[in-house]
Amino acid sequence: MKERFKKGLEDVVASESSVCFIDGKKGQLLYRGYDIRDLAEHSAYEEVAYLLLFGKLPGRKELGSFSNELAGCRELPERLVDIMGHFCRKLLPIDALRSCVSLLKCYDPAGNDRSMEANITRGVDLIAKFPTIVAYYYRINQELKIVHPDKRLGHAENFLYMLSGKKPDKLDARMTDLDMVLHAEHEFNASTFAARVTASTLSDMYAAITTAIGTLEGPLHGGAASAVVRMLDDIGNERNVEGYITKTLESHGKIMGVGHRIYKTLDPRVAKIRELARQAGERKGDLRYYKMLVKLEDVIKKAGLNKKGIYPNVDLYTGAVYKNLGIPEVLFDPMFALGRIAGWVAHVLEQYGDNRLIRPVTVYTGKKNLRYIPIGKR
Ligand SMILES: CC(C)(COP(=O)(O)OP(=O)(O)OC[C@H]1O[C@@H](n2cnc3c(N)ncnc32)[C@H](O)[C@@H]1OP(=O)(O)O)[C@@H](O)C(=O)NCCC(=O)NCCS
Repeated sequence: MKERFKKGLEDVVASESSVCFIDGKKGQLLYRGYDIRDLAEHSAYEEVAYLLLFGKLPGRKELGSFSNELAGCRELPERLVDIMGHFCRKLLPIDALRSCVSLLKCYDPAGNDRSMEANITRGVDLIAKFPTIVAYYYRINQELKIVHPDKRLGHAENFLYMLSGKKPDKLDARMTDLDMVLHAEHEFNASTFAARVTASTLSDMYAAITTAIGTLEGPLHGGAASAVVRMLDDIGNERNVEGYITKTLESHGKIMGVGHRIYKTLDPRVAKIRELARQAGERKGDLRYYKMLVKLEDVIKKAGLNKKGIYPNVDLYTGAVYKNLGIPEVLFDPMFALGRIAGWVAHVLEQYGDNRLIRPVTVYTGKKNLRYIPIGKR
């Protein structure tokens, strides 16, 4: 029994899936067979979401009607917006997103219809509404008037518009879109796996996506981008990077944005996000984070981490991109969710399509055969 046990389920094959392929040794990431680098170069988030959900790249007409469908589903039920106004001010946007997804079930026109068709409609609706929930809650929390979605704008562009109240310029919109593409899917990462476990009990889509958001929040997963920015603020400037990293490694601490369960070489998304961080920094006239991160990559390499298979992951540069796009730090975790929702939905649909309850076993390490002593005699 003991040899079957893999802590953290490392290398355990938990399912078959046609959504995503990762070769962690070669540094390859494919969404439905397409290389992430090609998708990042050529596709907008709407196209990638279509690909993940339906398994093929859309034609012009299909993409047009899918984008229109998304744009048409963005607005939230009025009652839900009212409820958001009553959330405790301390509630983080990622928690507000989790709570709102749960509540959206009350407004589902298909009720308890569990057909594949109804679930696809629900999934598209969630992809469309995620940015609205995040932007509305942020503005409500800041005591600002909400900005309603604009159907004429693309998915990422509209999010920035709802957040700031101003039409974003094309480059900021494209950078945000690209970030969503890079985060859209990543095989059996913790949040996706959690969503599939929930779906495997035949719980509904809202329950599965709520589970995924809860799992995303931790600093070892979706919380890494904000942890990186906190680390950079602690470091202060480029000159302090080496000393900080050396001290962290000497005390067996972890460096945020570095290391990955699957990639034992450079994460294939890093080159693109590094470039985005440089562009976003240049536009803002502030390359401080970018320069610290480039230095950090060099320092961890010299410290021998790469030889141990520990390389930068996508989230090393994500926070620097967000910061320079003017996205508040409290929205970093939700930003990850805005991208990953398409992957989550694709996996939940796949799970429903060929379901078997996910229920692993443990190696029991407790005592056995204890004699029960009544409470009065203990
Ligand atoms: C992502 C992560 C959780 C993967 O963890 P994992 O596969 O469970 O690997 P472990 O945490 O067991 O680490 C294995 C070894 O690598 C080292 N290691 C892993 N990530 C490290 C990091 N970020 N900094 C320093 N050392 C690291 C561990 O100390 C451990 O060394 P040891 O064997 O000498 O004890 C881990 O790399 C990490 O915590 N990274 C920082 C958080 C992060 O960026 N998360 C976003 C992921 S996209």
